[in-house]
Amino acid sequence: TERSVQVKLVLLGEAAVGKSSIVLRFVSNEFQPNKEPTIGAAFLTQKCRLEDRVLRYEIWDTAGQERFHSLAPMYYRNAQAAVVVYDVTKASSLEKAKTWVKELQRQANPNIVIALAGNKIDLVTPSASPTVPESEDEADDATATPGETGTSGEPESLRQVPRDEAEAYAQEAGLLFFETSAKTGEGVVEIFTEIAKKIPID
Ligand code: GTP
Ligand code: MG
Repeated sequence: TERSVQVKLVLLGEAAVGKSSIVLRFVSNEFQPNKEPTIGAAFLTQKCRLEDRVLRYEIWDTAGQERFHSLAPMYYRNAQAAVVVYDVTKASSLEKAKTWVKELQRQANPNIVIALAGNKIDLVTPSASPTVPESEDEADDATATPGETGTSGEPESLRQVPRDEAEAYAQEAGLLFFETSAKTGEGVVEIFTEIAKKIPID
């Protein structure tokens, strides 16, 4: 019969970076555009199937609002894994993520597996970047409306955290690294399967 192991996992990160949305995508394969802030923490479970075993994640989805910060140790205590989330469109959220990583490395289980996830990647990499044919003669078209042309379609315009920078930090700090979108699902299952592969069988 298959080996099954329970894994306690905690999500941490600044308010509104998408922690609950990542969990909702992983557990229900859904997305809610106007997800309400988490109060305290939420608890969910989800199985994760690897080739040789099944893990059962026990997920503590914490509240990012500052007034809940002091509750966090209750949720990361004894956790075997942590997902620290930031928002690729908000530089300050990576700084907050770094402080969570430091806190985990000081206070959590020394063997904890930590993943860093840069979420909302859909806002900076549209799945289909439209190829607009260049018009030879209409460049001076006086009837063009402001906003129809220009930089509004530039794919990288909202990005505040370069992938290279975050990835280099993650490597230095010994973290798994992902860029994700809870909205499209990109990268979400990978967080949990890559963590699962690092959880020792005992
Ligand atoms: P707290 O519970 O307050 O700590 O916030 P949170 O980190 O759980 O964020 P939440 O999942 O509630 O998402 C905040 C907002 O961002 C919601 O309106 C989500 O719909 C939106 N959101 C979350 N993930 C994504 C994403 O990948 N892409 C986009 N475009 N929006 C997202
Ligand atoms: Mg939440």
